[in-house]
Amino acid sequence: MIDASLPVAMFDSGVGGLTVLHECLVALPQEDYLYLGDTAMFPYGERDPAELRRRIALIVAKLLERGAKLLVIACNTATAIGEEVAREVAAKYGVEVVPVVAPQAEIAAAITDNGRVGVLATTNTVESGAYRRALEAEGRGLDVIEVAAPRLAPFIQEGSLFDEETMAMARGYCAPLRKAGVDTLILGCTHFPLVAPMLQRILGRNVRLVSGGHAVAAAIQRTLEGSGLAREGDDEGTYEFFCTGPVSSFGDVATRFLQMPLGEVRQVEFTVPA
Ligand code: DGL
Repeated sequence: MIDASLPVAMFDSGVGGLTVLHECLVALPQEDYLYLGDTAMFPYGERDPAELRRRIALIVAKLLERGAKLLVIACNTATAIGEEVAREVAAKYGVEVVPVVAPQAEIAAAITDNGRVGVLATTNTVESGAYRRALEAEGRGLDVIEVAAPRLAPFIQEGSLFDEETMAMARGYCAPLRKAGVDTLILGCTHFPLVAPMLQRILGRNVRLVSGGHAVAAAIQRTLEGSGLAREGDDEGTYEFFCTGPVSSFGDVATRFLQMPLGEVRQVEFTVPA
């Protein structure tokens, strides 16, 4: 039985989804959260899509078996490749799904002045065409410039230091966006808001960066209120963290990015059927 006392479950391949969780903690602090970083399978951006869909189906089932009132796909690649399968599995548990691609496309389409929108994302996300379709669906006849940035999420996930090589990598990814004159850039990977200052510096003040977290938190609020599952009151909720890879590397990087203690991070193991 699904009721308002259950947590909101969310997952990502790693620490990227924390940018979504952060916005949720700001907008909906009274809710309980359950976060899974599928670090054993990181990076999703380069995995075979069929394998990823099997993995996503398993993760959604495991999370919802624990009991949750809503499933948030806090990962653009998982949304682009596996939103449909996630919805199919969640439907069996009677749970609604909030993905990350559509809310960002809506904002980008609304705020661009020159109609040129960039998308910086993983290889799988770009190849899926999910953002292109979502932006086209906005009906503004936008020019969409997509750039795959396969090395950026691993750099962030490892918690590496910014050096000249990092800057050269980021400048390389931004070059086609600058050349195309985009005035709006969708950070199409939930890891990327964690390096927004670097990207803003390279692209300049006039390019607006669109992160997913804020819009997704608003979508979560609407969905919970719409289904009568929002939690009332002023008490702060709880949060629980799980990862599928080593606990210490996840915990260190996640604590730094979220800027709060995570409590005990627990490791869970999933074996995906072949
Ligand atoms: N955070 C994931 C996303 O939003 C990507 C990182 C990965 O490649 O696993 O796309």
